[in-house]
Amino acid sequence: MKQRTLAIIKPDGVSRNLVGAVLSRMEAEELRVVAMKMIKMTKEQAKGFYRVHEGKPFFESVTDFMSSGPCVVLVLEGDDAIRRYRTLMGATDYTKAEEGTIRREFATDIEKNVVHGSDSEETARFEIGYFFNALEVMA
Ligand code: CMP
Repeated sequence: MKQRTLAIIKPDGVSRNLVGAVLSRMEAEELRVVAMKMIKMTKEQAKGFYRVHEGKPFFESVTDFMSSGPCVVLVLEGDDAIRRYRTLMGATDYTKAEEGTIRREFATDIEKNVVHGSDSEETARFEIGYFFNALEVMA
């Protein structure tokens, strides 16, 4: 089943020149880029994006981090894209991520974990709509 998911290359990935490496990994897994741009979120925008995590101990810190520098936000399309992209990313905590995953290879910290991906179809709809309008996403 063809699906779309929202992916972010986080400020640590952009500042460490990992954009190309991460995109290659996505495309090699048959995840097609159907929208992409570079943005720098304000603290308020980062809080809006991560609102499901409001109240958690890492909320202030992760929203500071996500608004600290540019991110690349993109929409990926493919069969079972949400689950397959999450497998490609690996666990949030890179020390627990499988060998060969993006986070295992590149992350340095549970917070500075290089990439984000939607965790369900409902989340993907919200997250894609948070960053992209209809004209910016390929039909
Ligand atoms: P992400 O998948 O984007 O979702 C929430 C983010 O919060 C997570 O990746 C990490 O960057 C950050 N984070 C920091 N600490 C934690 C934690 N203990 N559990 C989950 N996420 C955390």
